[in-house]
Amino acid sequence: MLRTVWFEDGKVKLIDQTKLPQQEIIAQYDDYKEVARAIVDMEVRGAPAIGVTAALGIALGICKLVSLENLKKDFLTITETFAKTRPTAVNLFWAINRMRAVFEKEVNSDISHIKQSLLDEALKIAEEDILINQSIGNYGAKLLRDGETVLTHCNAGALATVAYGTALGVIRAAIAEGKNIKVIADETRPLLQGARLTCWELEKDGIDVTLITDSMAGYLMKEKKIDKVIVGADRIAANGDTANKIGTYSVAVLAKANNIPFYIAAPISTIDLSINDGSKIPIEQRNADEVRFIDGLLVAPKDVKVKNPAFDVTENELISGIITEKGVARAPYRQSIKKITGG
Ligand code: MRU
Repeated sequence: MLRTVWFEDGKVKLIDQTKLPQQEIIAQYDDYKEVARAIVDMEVRGAPAIGVTAALGIALGICKLVSLENLKKDFLTITETFAKTRPTAVNLFWAINRMRAVFEKEVNSDISHIKQSLLDEALKIAEEDILINQSIGNYGAKLLRDGETVLTHCNAGALATVAYGTALGVIRAAIAEGKNIKVIADETRPLLQGARLTCWELEKDGIDVTLITDSMAGYLMKEKKIDKVIVGADRIAANGDTANKIGTYSVAVLAKANNIPFYIAAPISTIDLSINDGSKIPIEQRNADEVRFIDGLLVAPKDVKVKNPAFDVTENELISGIITEKGVARAPYRQSIKKITGG
């Protein structure tokens, strides 16, 4: 099974996703600041993978401490460094909170125990992620019929998690059940996670995938070439409004107009009950050069004004269901999400 991020020999190791698909390089970090930078630079990306990497990075930062004089302050500095990396995926803050809870519980123990407890918690978060994705896959697979074609946007696969994936986990589970499922992958400008990552990992697994540019989705829907849409999520508000990779909203509107079911697949850690609706979800704005350049090649006048929001919000009325590890939440979402989260 493809694994995106792990802890080995006192280092956080991850597949450097900025290099895919040209090169398969394992980046290795023994400094937590480098782990945080890797999240900012999107060497590792995707909401669950960001959360797990931050947890491992926090454990790494504490394990490397030599002096305990400023333990509480150092923990705060490390967690704040990770909290500043990317604002939209709530899994990041969820993972930081889990690490903080362990730290607060163990803070008066001896240092070797504190270090081990934090590392154990980070490893637990990583292992849980795989099981959660498999469970999402099993619930989601029931929604797919033999012979269907699924459109997905961005990469909500093994590369966006520790392994297996959320939206792509659903496809993997349906195929494992013996169904013949084909995938259409939006390229996902500006950073091409669909083209570079989704196509790469599906091909590696021998799953039938066809790449399209983002603007082709509506045409294919009209031509009845797409049966379902399944995407991931970076943050789901209490009412089901969902932030995901920029362009997801356009796909959802197109799916509605063409009567195609549109599903979100995400772990419960992506649900943020403190946010009432999607309008309150913070949207990351990224560097303009990500739009002006493709793979180092200038594709627009070099000083042209640019907008580069990394995510958009799809309102709950466009969503047919939210597939989680505890089952599928459906409208009315406020109630179904409350039930599924026990919140
Ligand atoms: O900017 P990215 O590549 O981190 O954005 C990733 C997405 O939008 C994914 O769809 C989302 O995180 C779900 S991953 C299972």
